[in-house]
Amino acid sequence: MMEEDPVISTIKMRRSVRDYANKPVSNDVVESIIDAGIHAPTGLGMQPWRFVVIKDKAIMKQMSNHCKPRLLKQLEGINIDAAMQFKKMLKTEEFDIFYNAPVLIIVLGYKNVPTVDFDCSMCAQNMMLAAHSMGLGSCWIGTACLVQDNPEMLNKLKIPADFKVVAPIIFGYAGSIPAAPPRNEPVITWL
Ligand SMILES: Cc1cc2nc3c(=O)[nH]c(=O)nc-3n(C[C@H](O)[C@H](O)[C@H](O)COP(=O)(O)O)c2cc1C
Repeated sequence: MMEEDPVISTIKMRRSVRDYANKPVSNDVVESIIDAGIHAPTGLGMQPWRFVVIKDKAIMKQMSNHCKPRLLKQLEGINIDAAMQFKKMLKTEEFDIFYNAPVLIIVLGYKNVPTVDFDCSMCAQNMMLAAHSMGLGSCWIGTACLVQDNPEMLNKLKIPADFKVVAPIIFGYAGSIPAAPPRNEPVITWL
């Protein structure tokens, strides 16, 4: 049987990890992950990103407590099973939107660049794939974008006024790795 290409294998094996081992992530590893991120392509080569690295649990807890009620409000009226279960979890004090991960890296995007969301998402995917390749798990925590409405929080996170939160991603060594959620067959139009 032909061996799968290592890049394809990394792409397919990466999972969103929501259970982390109690093992710190070194700053060297964090810098290697960010280095993979900045090799992403960008519109006009603008590289419109900056990074905030948070290892301080108290700051992460504060962010989590800020976002939980806001997410609950967004989910009001959505009564499908998965959302109901998630809402129940969000209402508990213990639930941490960052799943107690040891490190959160926020990819910030420069607001004045038209391709900023694409650019920072490419960077984010590079970072998650690099982390997987280095033996770490990751998960993009879109919920954390809800800090964007709070000037005090943005100030605490040292986010400059001309930057916005695009991709908050947690990283760490996995406690457990979930099964791959099944993928739908792609809809392809061939012309
Ligand atoms: C833009 C974006 C936002 C996401 N936000 C969250 C989130 O707030 N919380 C969470 O647990 N997972 C979040 N995820 C992870 C997805 O739930 C996950 O990618 C999806 O279930 C597929 O699983 P996989 O990454 O293991 O393939 C997010 C993913 C993306 C791309």
